[in-house]
Amino acid sequence: MKAILSMSAVYAACLLFVQDADAQRGPGFRGGRGPRGDANFVADRDTFHFLLENHKQIKRQVTLLANGVETLTTSEDKQIVERLQEHVKAMYERVEKGNPIRRRDPLFDELFRHAEKLDMKLELVPDGVRVVETSDDPFVVKLIQAHAAVVSKFVEHGFAEAQKNHAIPPADSPSASSASKLTEEQQRKLLSFSAAFDRVYIPALALTNQQMQVPSEAAIARLRAWTDTKSSDVRELLGPVSSDSEPWTTIQNAIEQADALVQAGQLSEAHEALEPIRSLLTEERKRVSLTYPIDRLNEFHDVMESIVKPAMKANLESIDEQFLAQLSEKAVEASTLWSRVEQTSFTSPDFQLTDEEHQKLEQMIAAERKALTQIQHALRDGDYATILQAAIAIKPPFAKTYMLFGDFQDE
Ligand code: HEM
Repeated sequence: MKAILSMSAVYAACLLFVQDADAQRGPGFRGGRGPRGDANFVADRDTFHFLLENHKQIKRQVTLLANGVETLTTSEDKQIVERLQEHVKAMYERVEKGNPIRRRDPLFDELFRHAEKLDMKLELVPDGVRVVETSDDPFVVKLIQAHAAVVSKFVEHGFAEAQKNHAIPPADSPSASSASKLTEEQQRKLLSFSAAFDRVYIPALALTNQQMQVPSEAAIARLRAWTDTKSSDVRELLGPVSSDSEPWTTIQNAIEQADALVQAGQLSEAHEALEPIRSLLTEERKRVSLTYPIDRLNEFHDVMESIVKPAMKANLESIDEQFLAQLSEKAVEASTLWSRVEQTSFTSPDFQLTDEEHQKLEQMIAAERKALTQIQHALRDGDYATILQAAIAIKPPFAKTYMLFGDFQDE
């Protein structure tokens, strides 16, 4: 279907008065160029960062329609209203021109892939924007509704929500439910691809996190080169069993975006763009029932972060009953998931581990168990400082374990 963008007369008139985004950037402007060839990236990011910062002063109502949504997003603050209107206008231009943003987030990526099927009506009202978004395609209706729910979550939680990725709603089409399983030969191939991918992915992930510019450039170049060469093989394996969502496309986009961010010196953002890839691949392998040892580490990673991140932010005064209850629950979960790692064999030659690395692996797996036991003891004994210290200490042995599966070459 052809793209239809309808705007109210009010909106069309207002467009004439929207300043050029570059002209709005002040002298203190900070930040890189963003993805290559995307002149509006920085301006658009600044606007939605502003909205996220001020999320508490934004109100929103979403009405579900049979074929989409009607939303009303408002604020009492004049400046927020202006930025909100500017944001929606900019996002619609992106949808219209097929110029995606936030591609690391599967839901946003998918929405942009179906931009042609979106019908959007936008009305600027004095205190905000009213939007009606519809589609004739039932799957796109689901995407629209899921996206509107995510925007509401941005309004509710601000940056905490923007850091998360959002799942694509399941399609009811037969293609999604009839996902076939892989043959033994395909399983073996996918296992070998997964290990080879991790050998180039892990260095890019680790080095961007360590803020090492030059080594990150080399690592991301290797990751891109690998992905470019092997894409058609991986697609062949994942393609026939994939639903509409094409996770491999999402992964390639995320890598491309991370590359541009590394070039722009934005290593934390690049790391963020790369981070969701591991969960996406874990999900794909789960879907085709492939047992891949590193997925046990990936599963542990997510729970570990839900312990370490809050512990790093906390201080002795901020600890309360709720914090401790959550920590306790997560510590039990982490311990269970680590038992699965302990039961997993990492001896496949696909991992290319040397004898020395195998020994180190054993040591690190044992070190993680020790750290997990220490957190349980600290929770039992109740000393807040020891609890926080023990919570943070579960990360290094995991990181060392995980990094053994990366090929760091000279980086
Ligand atoms: C508090 C923060 C935010 C507010 C208030 C906000 C508001 C809105 C509104 C009102 C719409 C029109 C569609 C609807 O009402 O559902 C919209 C669309 C959109 N927003 Fe945001 N947004 C926020 C953050 C973000 C962020 C962080 C991104 C990430 C890049 C983003 C990307 C988009 C995109 C791509 C669209 C167009 C897609 C579509 O409407 O189908 N927004 N936003």
